[in-house]
Amino acid sequence: MNRTILALSALLVPASLAQSPPPANYDESKAGSYILPDPLVLASGKRVRNATMWREQRRPEILRLFEENMHGHSPPRPPGMTFDVFDKGTAVRDGKAIRKQITIHFTADKSGPRMDLLLYVPAHSPKPVPVLLHLSFTANSLTVDDPGVKEGLIWNREKKLVPASQGRGFGKLRVDDFIARGFGIATVYYGDIEPDFAGGFPHGVRGLFLKPGQTEPGPGDWGAIGAWAWGLSRAMDYLETDKNVDAKRVAIAGVSRLGKTVLWAGAEDQRFAMVIASCSGEGGAALSRRNYGETIKNLNTRFSYQFAGNYQKFGDHPDSLPVDAHMLLALIAPRPLLLSTGDQDRWSDPRGEFLAAVAAGPVYRLLGKQDLGTDQFPPAGQPILHTLGYSMHAGGHGAIPSDWDVFLQFMEKYLR
Ligand code: GCU
Repeated sequence: MNRTILALSALLVPASLAQSPPPANYDESKAGSYILPDPLVLASGKRVRNATMWREQRRPEILRLFEENMHGHSPPRPPGMTFDVFDKGTAVRDGKAIRKQITIHFTADKSGPRMDLLLYVPAHSPKPVPVLLHLSFTANSLTVDDPGVKEGLIWNREKKLVPASQGRGFGKLRVDDFIARGFGIATVYYGDIEPDFAGGFPHGVRGLFLKPGQTEPGPGDWGAIGAWAWGLSRAMDYLETDKNVDAKRVAIAGVSRLGKTVLWAGAEDQRFAMVIASCSGEGGAALSRRNYGETIKNLNTRFSYQFAGNYQKFGDHPDSLPVDAHMLLALIAPRPLLLSTGDQDRWSDPRGEFLAAVAAGPVYRLLGKQDLGTDQFPPAGQPILHTLGYSMHAGGHGAIPSDWDVFLQFMEKYLR
């Protein structure tokens, strides 16, 4: 084909196809070879020799790289934020739990975006309790079995806000199991923070923080994952004020894109004492340099709004991204981190998540914590519950009931 024909055929490709990323690779022999950036070498080339160097030099350096290239910068807590505790503590679950509901108004203007936080704590605990804060795909009223929970609003497929009763559930949180073990459990709906579609930012918190003259977030500004993670920090702002909650022992959990979100929230906000990320895949715990399942290019094509615009630069060249997933995991060290996956969830690349955890190991060890302790990929059903943990169920994408048993075990081990 000569040049003219090539140029013409390029023009004839419909825009939608021109944008499609190559089909995902599921052949282990084609996953490619790669060299990961060393989490324990400073940009200057100097080796990180101790915890102080990690904390004061390398960690901030890596965090900045993630902000610049992937998730953008998040603003601080807004000064006018208020907590409206409209359910101050109702005895529920046969008197075993106390339920609270709080509307977090992100700004002094109460007509702006706000988020409802639902919290259960054990009724008879003599002291403040550890809490799991779950970032959920749907409104609080659909997340638990409790008719006393205020009906929320959800974003439907037509990108409209409708009463939650018009939506579907995503499985219920096991409130009673947490209460029975002396833990609290809390949830927020990610759509309260920002809707999950391209162009959704004016309806969410990112719309609040545009600079004068800006009509949309710039290339270095935060994406929707940054916004959802920021919302978790605002929930934490409330939890710090609640006398029933031990704010030093708050874990965060989320699945899939919300698994990516909890990893970023844990990296950015060190008040979170534990992170449990389920099936977070590409853009989460899976190595981007490994060509298996979803790629950065896939994310950029379908979910560009979830990331900073700068992330677009790396679709064709994942190896030019100055960070990779193992460094995101390292930002959570020395705090307990559990990666939960499914052996059939090839799109999320469970082995790529495992390998990222292996490569984050040196940072956990430097900080005196137990890493995975192996580089042998474990079979499904044999969780490694070290400070840096990995657990794979037999099955596909999502958190299944048996995963929740593992999460509870992980919390028992490190937050009790
Ligand atoms: C898509 C996307 C993933 C994401 C998942 C989810 O499959 O490609 O990156 O994790 O949606 O959030 O369910």
